[in-house]
Amino acid sequence: MSLSEKVRIKVPASTANLGPGFDTLGMALSLYAWIEMKQADRTSFHLFGDEMKGVPEDKSNLIYQVAQMVFDEAGVSVPELDISMYSEIPLTRGLGSSASAIVGALAAANALIGSPLPDGKLFDMATNLEKHPDNVGASLFGGIIAAAWDGNHADYVRIEPPANMETLVVIPDFHLSTTKAREALPKQISLSDAVYNISRSSLMTAALASGQLDLIGAAMRDRIHQPYRAALVPGMSEILDEAPNRGALGIALSGAGPTLIALIRRGDERTESLRTYLIETMKKEGITASSLLLQPDVNGVQVLNELQSISFMDMIRGEVTT
Ligand code: HSE
Repeated sequence: MSLSEKVRIKVPASTANLGPGFDTLGMALSLYAWIEMKQADRTSFHLFGDEMKGVPEDKSNLIYQVAQMVFDEAGVSVPELDISMYSEIPLTRGLGSSASAIVGALAAANALIGSPLPDGKLFDMATNLEKHPDNVGASLFGGIIAAAWDGNHADYVRIEPPANMETLVVIPDFHLSTTKAREALPKQISLSDAVYNISRSSLMTAALASGQLDLIGAAMRDRIHQPYRAALVPGMSEILDEAPNRGALGIALSGAGPTLIALIRRGDERTESLRTYLIETMKKEGITASSLLLQPDVNGVQVLNELQSISFMDMIRGEVTT
């Protein structure tokens, strides 16, 4: 096994569920975090960007902990690490920030020790940490992921996103933890609601795989999580009903929220008025929000081999989206 002195990775954000595919469907998005990991004599952290505020700078740090899981799994000892991270992915907003940190740490640590673990193993480890495969699968493989997790192993298919589709996300200025958003869900659902979601999730997957964007409006609908989470996101119910009339192919809560994600036809002339509608509807409810036009990311996590000689922040500068 060949150990590198230093690795750098870039990992995308993600949206989970895509409406009906609760804990199953995910898509990577063009918003990123970067991690540099080096072998060191003493562990230290260099965390950059507003989203990193409050993140622990000791061995309880998630990146450090996940890296150690990789080393244990591979039977290698690298106890001391120098870790740098910059993220433009907002925390606890439904854009997969924790999944991207987990996937980034797994990929960086694996690359540092010569990549002994295959991607499928990294996916299983990431899903075991997140407990659902949708966000981590998207961040790892890029594109759209349909995945099933049995508690030990995740099976998945990666779908290339339709080339003429992009997304508009509206990100409320408040945090909503996944734990809280999952506590709002019922323990049991009716057979008719299960059928409602299974049929639409299947239709959504097939529509995305075949590029039939006109089916997204009928498919991107849900009865098993969004109705219960609506009370946590002011304006959400109205937006889910109305946005398809204003240029969204379909719209859903992004993961556990509070971000909402509209799938749109690339270059649709109604995009700016849709953006105004989304922001204004939240404002009416007393919620300030920002919006971003994001592309599906097709690369997933990438090990960066270029620009090794310049500093970590110099490498990132100029690449950031927000
Ligand atoms: N599928 C998950 C949920 C994604 O909706 O709770 C959030 O982590």
